[in-house]
Formats: sequence, C-alpha cells, structure tokens
Amino acid sequence: MRARCKGHMLHKDLVSLWDVTKDNALELFNYASQLKNNRISTKLKGKILALIFEKPSLRTRVTFETAIYELGGYAIYLSPSDIGLGSRESVKDVALNLSRWVSAIVARTFVHETVLELARHATIPVINGLSDLEHPCQALADLFTIYEKKGDLSKIKLAYVGDGNNVCHSLMVGASIFGISMRVATPVGYEPKREYVVKTGINVSNDPYKAVSNADIIYTDVWTSMGQEAEHEKRIRDFRKFQVNKTLLNHAKQDVHVMHCLPAHRGEEITDDVIDGSHSIVFEQAENRLHVQKAI
Ligand code: CP
Ligand code: NVA
Repeated sequence: MRARCKGHMLHKDLVSLWDVTKDNALELFNYASQLKNNRISTKLKGKILALIFEKPSLRTRVTFETAIYELGGYAIYLSPSDIGLGSRESVKDVALNLSRWVSAIVARTFVHETVLELARHATIPVINGLSDLEHPCQALADLFTIYEKKGDLSKIKLAYVGDGNNVCHSLMVGASIFGISMRVATPVGYEPKREYVVKTGINVSNDPYKAVSNADIIYTDVWTSMGQEAEHEKRIRDFRKFQVNKTLLNHAKQDVHVMHCLPAHRGEEITDDVIDGSHSIVFEQAENRLHVQKAI
C-alpha cells in the first residue's frame, strides 16, 4: 500500500474506493493477473496481517487468510469476542497496539467511522473489509473480473439492481473512476446515499427494466444486509419487483454477465436458474477476491 504506483503515492489505507485512482487500479489489475498465474511466493515472508471482524464472513476472511499464507506471511483472525473493539478497548488503542506488532489490518465493521478511526490512529495500512458504507475490496475484484472478461471498462454498460447499499456505493465509485456507464435501480426509499449519487453522477431510478436495458453486466446483492435482519420481511415485500430473474435478463444484451458479491439469498434477489445459469460469473468473481487482495 505504501509502494509507488506510476508516480502516484497511494494512500496508506484502503478505506473507501475513493482512495484509489484509475492508474492505481489498472496497476493493481496487472499485478493481480500475474499473481493469479503464479500463486505461491515469498513476497510477504514474515509479514503478519490482523483481521478484525465484527460481522460474519466466508469470502473476505478466507481470501485474505489464503492470500497472506500463499505470499509467505501469516494471518491472525480476531473475532468480536476476542478483542471487544470499542468496548473492552477503544478503537484508537487497538490501532496503536496492532501497529506495534503486525504489518497491516483488515477490518470488517458495522459503522464506517470505525474503519476510519482505525486508519487515523494506525501507523500501518488499514484495509476496509466491508463497512455499512463501502466494500472497496469487493468492487476492485468485481472491476478486475469485468476487465478480464471485456477489456476496456469505459465501453461497459453496468446495471445494478437491488439495494443501494455498501456494495452498490463502492461499485458506483469504481464506475465513476473508470468511466463505466452505470445505472442503478432500487425501490423507492432504498436508493444509494445522496453523496455517492452526487459525487459519481450515476443514473439512479426505481425502474429495473430501464436499468438493465442493453446492459453488458447485471449486478445484484442481498436485499437484507448484515445488521438489517429485523427488516427482512418488510424488505422482501419492498424489493419484490427487483429480483434478477430470466424475465429481467431478457431486457439486457444477449451475452450479458450476471454478477453478485455473495452470499446470495437464492429465491430473493436472484433466482436459482440465473445464478446457476450460463450468464452467471459469480464464482469467478469470488475467486478474484483472492488475486486482487494479494495485489492490494
Ligand atoms: N462478498 C463478501 O464479502 O463475502 P463475505 O461476507 O462472505 O466475506
Ligand atoms: N451488502 C451485503 C454484502 C455482503 C458481502 C452486507 O453488507 O451484508
């Protein structure tokens, strides 16, 4: 994270996708491609990565742990009950302690401010492994996956259908960095945060058919994110018309790719025939978390 990248000094941290420029991202993609073809090395021999997770995870935890092991380093996973971030000890003190022992921190938190606070006080890089506001590692892996499939990202039409959530926010930033033509469709009241809409200038509507019209990529995510479980029933009712199914796919390009950050709630935001069908690239996307996070 501290390396020079085409003459630009990268941020110490990756808290938001706004921390990344187009050149940084392209360099990261080239590096991820090399690492994909040559998985085992000693590039991070002796380096230790601390993983602080306030929420469950399959992909983020396993890909970061696998990444550091395959690069010759070591990972320490810290669950909420291990450290009591912000309760047993302040976020600042956790950051100051970890900075004395390990080389970098990955943090998955409820509140985005917690990742920012870790980054403010840590003298080592802090990587956002998902907060309520953003999921930058996911978006970088997603953009890399599209780049592998399609090449020039500026020619892509990307439709996001579903909740205007953390995954949607980072994808919007990524689309804006690469000049991707992106349309977002959410139910009324579930639009992405205004600051993301204003800063990216991305088209947001409440019409899924308009959003996917002529799209190269259709992207969706769960309707109920981690921490929103109490709203599950209401959300199922509100999002009913925003399911990614065969009927919706018929409005996109014939060779459309379907993406999902996973975990999927099959039968809610996406049907089995679509996620398991020939348009789906969701497991390639999941694999690329590993390669892109190594590059990060
Ligand atoms: N996509 C993703 O971040 O998955 P996990 O929640 O399993 O880490
Ligand atoms: N929006 C989802 C993404 C999970 C990877 C959540 O926050 O739960």
